[in-house]
Amino acid sequence: MTLNIGNVSIKKTAVLAPMAGVADRAYRLMCKKYGASYLVSEMVSAKGICYSDRKTAELCTVTDSERPMAVQLFGSEPDFMAEAVKIVLQYSPDIIDINMGCPVPKVVSTGAGSALMKDVGLAAAITESAVKSAGNVPVTVKIRSGWDSGHINAVEMAKALESSGASAIAVHGRTRDQFYSGEADWNVIRDVKNAVKIPVIGNGDVADAESCVEMYEKTGCDLVMIGRGTYGNPFIFSEIEARLNGREYTPPDVSEKMRVMLEHIRLIISISEKTEELAMHEARKNAAWYMNGYYGSAKFRGRCYQLSSYAEAEALAEEFVCLQASKGL
Ligand SMILES: Cc1cc2nc3c(=O)[nH]c(=O)nc-3n(C[C@H](O)[C@H](O)[C@H](O)COP(=O)(O)O)c2cc1C
Repeated sequence: MTLNIGNVSIKKTAVLAPMAGVADRAYRLMCKKYGASYLVSEMVSAKGICYSDRKTAELCTVTDSERPMAVQLFGSEPDFMAEAVKIVLQYSPDIIDINMGCPVPKVVSTGAGSALMKDVGLAAAITESAVKSAGNVPVTVKIRSGWDSGHINAVEMAKALESSGASAIAVHGRTRDQFYSGEADWNVIRDVKNAVKIPVIGNGDVADAESCVEMYEKTGCDLVMIGRGTYGNPFIFSEIEARLNGREYTPPDVSEKMRVMLEHIRLIISISEKTEELAMHEARKNAAWYMNGYYGSAKFRGRCYQLSSYAEAEALAEEFVCLQASKGL
């Protein structure tokens, strides 16, 4: 089954959430390989793009193997947003997404991210401005359930954004105040789904195929978006695809996981313009995530944070597999 966001067709399985500092190109390609049906870039500052920050070009680039993919922008001024959209269009994203959910003080203090949950009028004006500038490229918005538990306004926000021309809304069922703690409230996602006609993407706390199916069923959302559940686990997308298509799924064993971890590290090194040693700094957290949940994981994860070459990663992976085998795992 597929779903259309504007003119973009997306498989109705599960999509990778935008994650600054995590979901870079190597990460996205790994998730895509294992079945993510749609990818979103790390957030990019609209103002930064307008002032041609060098890093932004790197963040906005969409390669063909990543499509369909959105570039996500954050900003608090309609004019800068319009200008940023024009610049981003040069990178031919399939979709432009606007971040109205980021809780971090550095972003919120500029009036962007989840601060916009407190100013529905400005959020609508930013969206309208982006939509006008984007032409036939769909503009979507990612929101939270509200600012805090006393101000749950995702429904009001989603309706306003729909009227401003948004082609879909992603809802993370937490308030800004919650950051990433507590539980996501899926009822809010269901309420938004019942209130708008455009597709709704549900997000928050999906960790496996079971919770993905549960989110589809409980909220009626059109797509499920997964963030932290993909850490060291691009396989989650194959698991979901298999479940939704009624196919048998065999989870990877530890040697397969280590093989994929090394593949991911090679990709990070090959994409990076930095030296292998510096690229390994970026690879470390990923290596540690792939080792989660096994015998002796904590110690090995610590060792991942010391890795400074691919050869060391290979040796560590081999040792890890041997350790599991010695425990009969
Ligand atoms: C490390 C990290 C970085 C994130 N960066 C972004 C971002 O750039 N843009 C955004 O809209 N959300 C961002 N998020 C929020 C996620 O997209 C998602 O909404 C949140 O993690 C909840 O989903 P989950 O429970 O599946 O992780 C980030 C989350 C994490 C953990």
